[in-house]
Amino acid sequence: MSEKKEIKISAAKGRPMLSWVGKRPLRHVTAFPAQHMETFAPVEKTSEVSKTSEVWNGWPASYPHGGLLFHGDNKEVLAHLLANGFRGKVKLIYIDPPFDSGADYVRKVQLRGGAATAKIEGESYNLGEQIQYTDIWANDNYLQFMYERLLLFKELLHENGSFVLHCDCSRSHHIRCLLDEVFGSDKQFKNELIWFYRRWPTNSKSFQSMHDNLYWYTKGNDNSHVFNKLYEVASERTLSDYGGKRLTTITSEEGTQIKRETEEDSLGVPMRDVWEIRREHTRSHEHTDYPTQKPIELIERIVTALSNEGDIVLDAFVGSGTTSVAAQKLGRRWISCDINKGAIQTTAKRLQAIIQDQIKAAEQIDLITTEESSPEPAQLSFGVWRVNDYDLKIQRNEAIKLACEHIGVERIASEGWFDGKLGKKLVKIIPFEHPLSPLDLEELKKELDARLEVENTIVFVCLGIELAARTWIEDWNRLRKGEHTVNKIEVIELRTDAKYGNFIKHEPATAKVSIMRDGDKIKVRIEDFISPTILKRLDMDLPLFKAKITDWRSQVDCVMIDTAYNGEVFNVTLSDVPEKKNDLIDGLYSLPAPTGKTTVAAKIIDMLGEEVLVVEKV
Ligand SMILES: C[S@@+](CC[C@H](N)C(=O)[O-])C[C@H]1O[C@@H](n2cnc3c(N)ncnc32)[C@H](O)[C@@H]1O
Repeated sequence: MSEKKEIKISAAKGRPMLSWVGKRPLRHVTAFPAQHMETFAPVEKTSEVSKTSEVWNGWPASYPHGGLLFHGDNKEVLAHLLANGFRGKVKLIYIDPPFDSGADYVRKVQLRGGAATAKIEGESYNLGEQIQYTDIWANDNYLQFMYERLLLFKELLHENGSFVLHCDCSRSHHIRCLLDEVFGSDKQFKNELIWFYRRWPTNSKSFQSMHDNLYWYTKGNDNSHVFNKLYEVASERTLSDYGGKRLTTITSEEGTQIKRETEEDSLGVPMRDVWEIRREHTRSHEHTDYPTQKPIELIERIVTALSNEGDIVLDAFVGSGTTSVAAQKLGRRWISCDINKGAIQTTAKRLQAIIQDQIKAAEQIDLITTEESSPEPAQLSFGVWRVNDYDLKIQRNEAIKLACEHIGVERIASEGWFDGKLGKKLVKIIPFEHPLSPLDLEELKKELDARLEVENTIVFVCLGIELAARTWIEDWNRLRKGEHTVNKIEVIELRTDAKYGNFIKHEPATAKVSIMRDGDKIKVRIEDFISPTILKRLDMDLPLFKAKITDWRSQVDCVMIDTAYNGEVFNVTLSDVPEKKNDLIDGLYSLPAPTGKTTVAAKIIDMLGEEVLVVEKV
């Protein structure tokens, strides 16, 4: 074996500044106005708590004091916040963005009430899985997506503020580079925190992966950031070895051991950067069935350490709402956002419950005049806002899945801008909330200009098509007549296409509700609720058995009532959110009646997140 072989080594990429195809700075963004959708303010008049009202100084006048929950793409929501007085106001940002894991995250959807309410001759009351968001990215899209948002987050952050990004090892190496580039790699980087959790071992041919990575950066580099030191309990042995005092052990530069008494000698040792915290147990009252929900204990540590009471805490990938819940419990103000309607509903539900608990706790404190143990909430109300229209009857991710299944599109993560392949053709699925427009076609043109190697025919799948887009395509294809021309465009228009069109029909859920005035009370009685989609799902899951729902309430997740509905913003006067999965909503409500004629609205949200609004003048 004397023959010399030359082993090729790939070139190093160069300076630690990450580069990717299509990297572009975010020079400007367009900010759109937000629409106010819903308010939850169970305590009359005061949205903020009186003792902490001074923390609201400087809050933009266009927003009521209280939590802000935004439904929309966070790029647009962050732009909106920047344009509306929140620049430099946020003290702590925690984000837990999609991990680029190549997975669709699904939420298990079940009927309420279990066996007593739904008779299905099998043992399952499962409505199957509802895709909450998709995490299939082409490499460069993911980096550009994160980069743009990081740049916006930095603008919103207070000079003394902190930014924490939660990710896992699939992307941590890239994320660190992005964070260094955006925040600075000098003194702004504070810690890499490791969240260590236990889980069932998998059968992989590698070490068990049992941790996530969190990167903490500050905006400034002058050490003026908030840091409330946390401690962890030291072992009794460590403590007793030194006369019962609690000691911190520090290694000096020379490597010798120095033992020092902590100032607060009952607190233990300063917390390390590896945190073992259990995942939220399915039986825990914090558990929401939301995939990727993070434990409240983890977020509470971050919020406690890196912000003070009254500070604004932002999470723009809020999922099941853990960050808002932690902030609400710890007396911080909060702003949250998610693109997914299921996430907004889950978050709103959790916050309503926490706020109700806080109100009850405050009443008890008044009654028995004990010491308060938990921080005073900064607000007892919140609003749901929407930037652009994401309120689809069929969620985009689910629509893509349906379209792929019915048309036979093979989804591929590596195709970037395209959603999948149909034979050799590349497929782009247009979000169902808007018809195929010339703008989509211009985007395609840009994509093809940048990727000259792509010669495939392009298929657009859309619900409908604008007239101008039809002309655009005719012109485009006219130039591509004959055998060997590339990138012809075809369109599958689902609404009219006889071959594919039928599956997209959506039969909305309906409710039978009586709303009456009875003296000084408004009486609301829900008599029936039918969701054809839920029934279809039950039949789909159990094709051999006929699903029979014996109590309509099993389909209903929660009910909200507004006794003075103005036709625009839903003000939650009453919310019925059963605490446990097996509990059912009441269905019968009696509320104080406003004087004079009023419009009452009842909002019923089913287990798949579909909303039915019944409005009555009484
Ligand atoms: C990993 S989950 C967050 C989980 C959350 N930390 C919790 O404890 O429940 C990521 C969330 O980001 C949301 N998301 C993804 N892309 C988004 C976007 N462009 N704008 C807003 N939210 C987005 C998803 O809908 C999902 O709920």
